[in-house]
Amino acid sequence: MHKFIIRKNFNSTLTNHTTNTGGGIFLHHLSDLHIWQPEKFHQPITVYSLFRNSSFQDWKQIQGYLNIKHNRGPNLYQYSCLKKALQEIGVRCKNDEYSHLVITGDVTNISHPEEFELARNMLNEYFVETIRNGEEFNENLLYEYCSIIPGNHDAYTPSSVTNNYFGHYFGNTLGLYNAMLTSDPQQDPLSAFSQNAHHSNFFLDQRGKNQHLNSLKNSIFESLSMNDLFPNVKILSNAQDGTHVLILSLSSSVPQKPFVAGGVVEQTQLEQASKLMKEIETTFRHEYLKENNDKEVSSNASSLFKVVLMHHPPVERAKDSFREYLNGLEKKSKQRIVEFCDSEKIDLLLHGHTHVPYLGRIGISNHETLVIDNGSTTYVNEEKPYKMARYHSYHIKGKNLVGIEQHVWNTATQVFERKELVLDKV
Ligand SMILES: [Fe+2]
Repeated sequence: MHKFIIRKNFNSTLTNHTTNTGGGIFLHHLSDLHIWQPEKFHQPITVYSLFRNSSFQDWKQIQGYLNIKHNRGPNLYQYSCLKKALQEIGVRCKNDEYSHLVITGDVTNISHPEEFELARNMLNEYFVETIRNGEEFNENLLYEYCSIIPGNHDAYTPSSVTNNYFGHYFGNTLGLYNAMLTSDPQQDPLSAFSQNAHHSNFFLDQRGKNQHLNSLKNSIFESLSMNDLFPNVKILSNAQDGTHVLILSLSSSVPQKPFVAGGVVEQTQLEQASKLMKEIETTFRHEYLKENNDKEVSSNASSLFKVVLMHHPPVERAKDSFREYLNGLEKKSKQRIVEFCDSEKIDLLLHGHTHVPYLGRIGISNHETLVIDNGSTTYVNEEKPYKMARYHSYHIKGKNLVGIEQHVWNTATQVFERKELVLDKV
């Protein structure tokens, strides 16, 4: 469990930002990257290496590897799409500090550390470097600029979850590293994380003074399982125009048997999420807004735009019930998510998993939650243009989603073409 409040206008360390002219906050949504670049792996991944280096419980990796070799792989899930998307969104974040990248899972294929490292290197090379643009940029600021959750392919084996590969490479985006920055150097790192520190500008004072961090980082990841990272809450705040976006990151991804890709969200995770959201909302209103005596912003404090990130869709999307059973979110979990979104008044739920874009609504009472599947950001197949590689950009102002941009890959020009997505026509 973890929570943070981020107010970019208070703590941005980059000087080359231009002012956000349109106001509000932009979320840029990528999903289902499935990056695979064998030439960039330190050690070759083969059937033999997977067989030799993993225990029986992890042999599902062999099934996944054969699937990459014979069905999917770098020709179908293309590296160039991800590179371009990260660069484009990096430019948006550089020019508009109220832009934030979200990735709703399936960064990898078989949860191999080589894949996680490749994806993290791409994030650094094409996203972080674009934002940094020669200026100083502490990579731990990643939690300000992006939120990444795991998909079923990132929790492919039991050992990948217990070894917390996802947290090791992407925990920073959930604020894990920053929790350690707030801690006493002598303090036990696990208890430091458990305290759920939520200061957002501490790193300005702490930078350069925390040589103990590397050793802390290693020990904390050994102490935590991937599941300990969720639920995770952060608030992005544009105090200039009173737009405040709460991002709740959930994990629906658990290791499954071969040929099963379904997900589960236990009630305990949602109960913890409700508690965290309540706490951070209270903190947000009292500790920050009253502290700054900003009456105009205070009046908008109750208008948090609430976004949930999860990998599996909360609605049935498969062609038949058997496929839904194998690949979808468990039936009880779907019900839980619908009830949760209704009771917590979630405005927008972003997910991936199906590789087919989708827009729908869920709700029980008068409240409706908009549900959007981005599809895959790297899938290139001209025979299936409806699921061609893409990313979405959502423009949130105040309590409203005022616009959605769809950026769809053009194989001839090798660029993403921007189209406005009109909600009424979906
Ligand atoms: Fe996927």
